[in-house]
Amino acid sequence: MEVIILDTELEVACAAADLVARLVAHTPTAVLGVATGSSPQGIYRELADRVDAGDLSFGRARAFALDEYVGLPRDHAQSYHSVIQHDVVGPLGFDPALVRVPDGLDPDTDASTARYEREIAEAGGVDLQILGIGSNGHIGFNEPTSSFASRTRIKTLAPQTRRDNARFFENVADVPAHCITQGLGTILDARHLVLVAQGRSKAAAIAHAVEGPVSSVWPGSLLQLHRHATVIVDEAAASELELGEYYRYAFANKPR
Ligand code: F6R
Repeated sequence: MEVIILDTELEVACAAADLVARLVAHTPTAVLGVATGSSPQGIYRELADRVDAGDLSFGRARAFALDEYVGLPRDHAQSYHSVIQHDVVGPLGFDPALVRVPDGLDPDTDASTARYEREIAEAGGVDLQILGIGSNGHIGFNEPTSSFASRTRIKTLAPQTRRDNARFFENVADVPAHCITQGLGTILDARHLVLVAQGRSKAAAIAHAVEGPVSSVWPGSLLQLHRHATVIVDEAAASELELGEYYRYAFANKPR
């Protein structure tokens, strides 16, 4: 695992955007895994700037979203269908036909989640998965004690997650109780995991993910099982890491 600690949120966004841009420049048909929430917003803005400048094109790339709320109409402003359209598909210029979001409305969740897994496999798997992390350590919406072998399925959101996400809704009661999320096993199949986190509220989750024992109680610790994981954090999110000095040294002395 590579841990990169940077001074500002903007630097975090630019460093992650560099990884995405390098992949898509090399492989225009790359398959991206895209997260929603606040953490990746800077990455999408940075990538959109590069698209606007004519330096980059996502026109042939594919994308799969990590998760979706159950029961929100697709055109609800906070459905991840809407958020992905608004924050990713439009600004980055994806072909909408090549972007998938789990179906939070299909009552046959077994069939719809199996279809989602099949679509990812048929696309050749995810080349680079952008991840945020919940303050309770969740990855996607895999709440604590989710199995590391889990696949896309329905989950119940933890009360902490509903409180954290209440800022996107009128009040916490409006945050759906259930979601469809890629499983931790699904996420582990991606070829490169790029996790970004900003702010003090993520410090414990980052410390457990990077340095804690591998445990489903802190789902982010799955990163330790992946052969190519990059964690990019600001100083506040890094503040509970014990080996911060080593990560800074390793990054400053990275072999070419
Ligand atoms: C969203 C997702 C979640 C978020 C996490 C952090 O698609 O997969 O794991 O990344 O809840 O959310 P923010 O970034 O809003 O703090």
